[in-house]
Amino acid sequence: MQMKSNRWDDHYTEKARKEKWRARSVYKLQEIDSKFKLIRRNDKVLDLGCFPGSWSQYAIWKVGKGGDVVGIDLQKPKAFNPPNFTYMAADIETVELEQLAARIEPRNVVLSDLAPPTTGIRDTDASRSLFLAERAAEIARMLLKSKGHFACKIFEGESLKSFKSDLTPAFKQIRLFRPKATRKRSREVYLVATGFIMN
Ligand SMILES: C[S@@+](CC[C@H](N)C(=O)[O-])C[C@H]1O[C@@H](n2cnc3c(N)ncnc32)[C@H](O)[C@@H]1O
Repeated sequence: MQMKSNRWDDHYTEKARKEKWRARSVYKLQEIDSKFKLIRRNDKVLDLGCFPGSWSQYAIWKVGKGGDVVGIDLQKPKAFNPPNFTYMAADIETVELEQLAARIEPRNVVLSDLAPPTTGIRDTDASRSLFLAERAAEIARMLLKSKGHFACKIFEGESLKSFKSDLTPAFKQIRLFRPKATRKRSREVYLVATGFIMN
């Protein structure tokens, strides 16, 4: 079983290397985007937790020259300077939201692949992931344009249900989705919220 899981992981890592994506996680976004049609040409996208850069790379390709991507992370993606990409260094846990609102134009799509360093302690990891997901959701609600979309990684746990129901009034539709490229042992899922309802 272990061997099977490793072979599957290696398949995506190798594919990403061959196709020149910065990380295997690109295939998760690709699958989410194919299913939910999140990113369109000329869109403005915010990518939370953008390092090493594969989701931003994908989003830049999807939006084309008329769109733009802002990526936020504690670490700057290395040697990555496409013309329609802006990196901002920030800690999502502590950054002042007003500061982000002042610097980032409204977005069609907010993505969050934020992940805390894992401890292996199930409850600790789930609650750290929830905190990051809640911050990402606050940022999405502040920056999304009407009818915009939000996709966010979150670890499975008790609080996933309440996270989802808190967001329900703000979007037309909310789904939980586990892409095939997710590592077999991982407890992550993606919440995909489409059709932002602006108050
Ligand atoms: C799984 S990686 C993202 C991979 C990225 N989507 C890609 O495809 O290249 C998760 C990222 O979340 C970032 N992160 C975790 N906690 C953060 C925080 N508090 N503020 C900003 N970034 C954070 C980490 O630095 C890490 O780069």
